[in-house]
Amino acid sequence: MTQEITITRLGHQGDGIAPGPIYVPRALPGEVVSGTPEGDTLAEMQVVTPSPHRVSPPCRHYRACGGCQLQHASDAFVADWKQDVVRAALSAQGVEAALRPIHTSPPRSRRRATISVRRTKKGTLAGFHGRASDVITEIPDCQLLDPALLAAIPVAQALALLGGSRKGVLAVTLTLSEAGLDVSVSGGKPLDGPFEASLALIAEQHGLARLAWEGEVIASRHSPVQRFGKANVVPPPGAFLQATKDGEAALLSAVREIVGSAKRVADLFAGCGTFSLPLAETAEVHAVEGEASMTTALDQGWRRAQGLKRLSTEARDLFRRPLLPDELRRFDAVVLDPPRAGAEAQVTELTRAKPPVIAYVSCNPVTFARDAKTLTQAGYRLNWVQVVDQFRWSAHVELAASFSLAHIGG
Ligand SMILES: C[S@@+](CC[C@H](N)C(=O)[O-])C[C@H]1O[C@@H](n2cnc3c(N)ncnc32)[C@H](O)[C@@H]1O
Repeated sequence: MTQEITITRLGHQGDGIAPGPIYVPRALPGEVVSGTPEGDTLAEMQVVTPSPHRVSPPCRHYRACGGCQLQHASDAFVADWKQDVVRAALSAQGVEAALRPIHTSPPRSRRRATISVRRTKKGTLAGFHGRASDVITEIPDCQLLDPALLAAIPVAQALALLGGSRKGVLAVTLTLSEAGLDVSVSGGKPLDGPFEASLALIAEQHGLARLAWEGEVIASRHSPVQRFGKANVVPPPGAFLQATKDGEAALLSAVREIVGSAKRVADLFAGCGTFSLPLAETAEVHAVEGEASMTTALDQGWRRAQGLKRLSTEARDLFRRPLLPDELRRFDAVVLDPPRAGAEAQVTELTRAKPPVIAYVSCNPVTFARDAKTLTQAGYRLNWVQVVDQFRWSAHVELAASFSLAHIGG
């Protein structure tokens, strides 16, 4: 039976939530919506009273595609909501913070995306998965991806025709590099000699910089270089990179400001050197990262670059073996950029070592707030938080935060 309900808030996934709770995707706080209750959701939702923040989605694929969650809300609303998510997470831990105005990456700026491709009777279907479904939606006019990435979807289709199946879905990660397209595929058929030769031919025909299949490099026609400051790094296939160059620049600018004139910096969860290499222009850097293939890439990038200060790398699991106070005491500044789980063990050691400043970059406000509480209870001041939205129209929230020992200031 159809029911009318009022949405009271947005959840962490960007869904509207009404008392119950009932989760209503694509509804906004204050809206009255109608639909048929199904468990804890509302089917066939219709907006009865729209929010003043409701807008026409800028992308024509939004109705079917699951790539974006918040295109029905104004940019100003999404910006305020993301700032509020951070404020609420901190306040739940009893931590206060000054939030700087949000930095949002422009449309069509994503430099990497994983495209799903399935073989069909007629050919292939390539795009993003639909909302909460395994149906693939084609996205020829996607407003998220850099046009050069969008133009590469035929590459994903050609790869699926050759190495995909009609049962499985091929995951094709496309990354823009300085030398062209860097492509990494998983979920396809196993490699053998003739198949590898055919894949290499596709790399040639489409002018790919590199093609990797299930982590194995099949063709490397040009080094798929990413530029970090003065250094050129060739990341291992599929390795982590910030989602947009614009977002990376905003995070780096915040990190540089926090690190200031520090002479010895530890960059923890360093990846391929997004922060380490630019920081090495003015400071000696020790970069620690769990994946040895990434520290190797970082080290090689540093060795080939000119004019950088000393940089050392260490492959180490920072959850199990965080840097200890004896190792941390030589640094004037520490940069932390952990995965979603945060950096609980490492932060505990930081509270013992007490480096003067900490730049904490986070992709999860909840674990960030937990770690921020540990730092502030140990005598650090949270000077400011810069929210950076490189996943516009999604519920994802990222930030950079400045901590300093209370008597040092920041
Ligand atoms: C959010 S990424 C940041 C990478 C880098 N700072 C950048 O901006 O490109 C998190 C990094 O932490 C690494 N990582 C994940 N778990 C780890 C662990 N237990 N110990 C050390 N590094 C880990 C990942 O491989 C990844 O490179």
